[in-house]
Amino acid sequence: MNDLTNARFCEYTELISRKLSEINEMLHSAGGEGIVSERCADAVWWSLSSGGKRIRPILAMEFCRVCGGLPENAVDAAAAVEMIHTYSLIHDDLPCMDDDDYRRGRLSCHKKFGEAFGLLAGDTLLTHAFGAAANSRCLSDGQKAEIISKLAEYAGIGGMIGGQVLDLSFENGGCDSVSSLLKMYSKKTGAMLKCACEVGCISANADKEKRSAACEYAENLGIAFQITDDILDVTQTTEALGKPAGSDEKQHKTTFVSLNGLDDARAAAAEYTEKALKALEAFDDNDFLVDLTRHLLNRKN
Ligand code: IPE
Ligand code: IPE
Ligand code: MG
Ligand code: MG
Ligand code: MG
Repeated sequence: MNDLTNARFCEYTELISRKLSEINEMLHSAGGEGIVSERCADAVWWSLSSGGKRIRPILAMEFCRVCGGLPENAVDAAAAVEMIHTYSLIHDDLPCMDDDDYRRGRLSCHKKFGEAFGLLAGDTLLTHAFGAAANSRCLSDGQKAEIISKLAEYAGIGGMIGGQVLDLSFENGGCDSVSSLLKMYSKKTGAMLKCACEVGCISANADKEKRSAACEYAENLGIAFQITDDILDVTQTTEALGKPAGSDEKQHKTTFVSLNGLDDARAAAAEYTEKALKALEAFDDNDFLVDLTRHLLNRKN
């Protein structure tokens, strides 16, 4: 991811890559010898192994660290969040949703494997995310129960799915106020970012104050992140994004850019980033999170 390539970033990327590879092997063997389940596991790996930025697992591990835990203790929870996020992207690209043919620099899952396997690959990732959290060897039973509950809450109808429902209802001019739009962003994008930060805190047994500061951070980061995603959709090329540029206009989406224009969108993304940075003041040794947060505002994909 562009210029944020310090030692800690590399360590987290390595930890999550290794964990996801283990999960890939497990999924290939768990499906048995059948050619059909192999194809489903291949479809999962197609989407999981491609060039995602891994922001959510990085946040989970770093919040664990700044709350006094070992980052590797959060890796199963981090992988669970990344799996749910990846499932949400696979389903988001389906023809019945945003109908996008590219994702993470390659054909989207349904374009490569067909719609049924896109659907099933998403289902596999969602289901297995709960298994990865439940079977973690680095977390206590209490931590696992709480993490599983948070995954369900933030991925569900009150969180990411609820946001996707609102996103669909806002197509073709169905949303005319910024406050409704931001509510949708807080769910469709903010919820899984919040989930990442919270599972990191839980993995370190963080106190209430730290957890609430992490949520305040993620709430603002989520809005800034989605407004930036809207901006990139109209300012970058498909090649730079690794997913189709201009997708929002094609699908008649209401976005911050379509409602208020690019200049206001840039100002709002910067404003929410500042609020997120403010929330980070609750954490000592927050340099990495500060750099990451600034980096996400200026990212190119
Ligand atoms: C894309 O998320 C979907 C949104 C919530 C805007 P990312 O921009 O984090 O996608 P990857 O994981 O890097 O592919
Ligand atoms: C999707 O938002 C958020 C999800 C829950 C997947 P977008 O539809 O804007 O994400 P991209 O632009 O396709 O990555
Ligand atoms: Mg969408
Ligand atoms: Mg989309
Ligand atoms: Mg988008």
